Amino acid sequence: MIDQDTPVIPPELIKTLRAAHSVVVLTGAGVSAESGIPTFRQAQTGLWQKYRPEDLASPEAFRRNPGLVWDWYTWRRGLVSSAQPNAGHYALVAMEHQVSDFTLITQNVDDLHRRAGSRAIIELHGNILRTRCSKEGILVSEWNEAAESPPHCQKCGGLLRPDVVWFGEALPTEALTQAMHAAQQCQVFLAVGTSGLVYPAANLPRIALQAQAVLVEINPQRTELSSVVTYPLAGLSGSILPELVTQTWPK
Ligand code: OAD
Repeated sequence: MIDQDTPVIPPELIKTLRAAHSVVVLTGAGVSAESGIPTFRQAQTGLWQKYRPEDLASPEAFRRNPGLVWDWYTWRRGLVSSAQPNAGHYALVAMEHQVSDFTLITQNVDDLHRRAGSRAIIELHGNILRTRCSKEGILVSEWNEAAESPPHCQKCGGLLRPDVVWFGEALPTEALTQAMHAAQQCQVFLAVGTSGLVYPAANLPRIALQAQAVLVEINPQRTELSSVVTYPLAGLSGSILPELVTQTWPK
């Protein structure tokens, strides 16, 4: 269904995407905005509005006040668990079924791509629904909820933390290597719902472009990437992605 917000998809993009056997999609917080999850650069809501994500999602913040950081992530886990994937997430599942070599790289930690049914997911910044011991790095699935915030690892006593990448931390090496390889090999690269401000993720579209891929951006705003994109599609991913899939692979 085309509404006034969905721009016309250029016919040559539909032809290129239909003919492509290798497609990479990089998603950012914008793809989850229509699921009710605030983006990073959007104002925080409720009691957390006095904090900036940069002041909570960092090793320094955790050292300074582990309980506050743990409680912020508990709040965000609640937000994420009650959110539902939107039409944009489901359109990417449909695209994965149509393209022989499809890779979904996400900066999001909200698990919505997996819940929508995507499988070939590379989580560059981790996943908020996973918890790990801050000392040994092992994933932990049980802890004493009644304990003070944050709970401790029952094995070594270390503080538990979310299994996400914090500001200033390195990305998981394996995930980044796979993402860069995919970007170098693809014929079409779509950057969806990302401001393109945070590296190394923001390098991926440029790596694809250098490898002669066609670069598509889906975002209601212009971003750092817009000037180098082949096809800038201005609008909401929840409207544009389903339209792109329907027109490229009509039932
Ligand atoms: P940002 O909050 O920086 O950017 C979200 C982008 O989504 C903006 O460009 C919005 O214009 C766009 N947007 C909003 N609603 C949209 C919609 N319905 N459809 C399409 N686009 C929409 O979030 P990210 O680019 O994901 O890193 O931020 C990247 C990283 O910065 C995050 O992963 C996080 C943060 O620091 C870490 O936590 C390590």
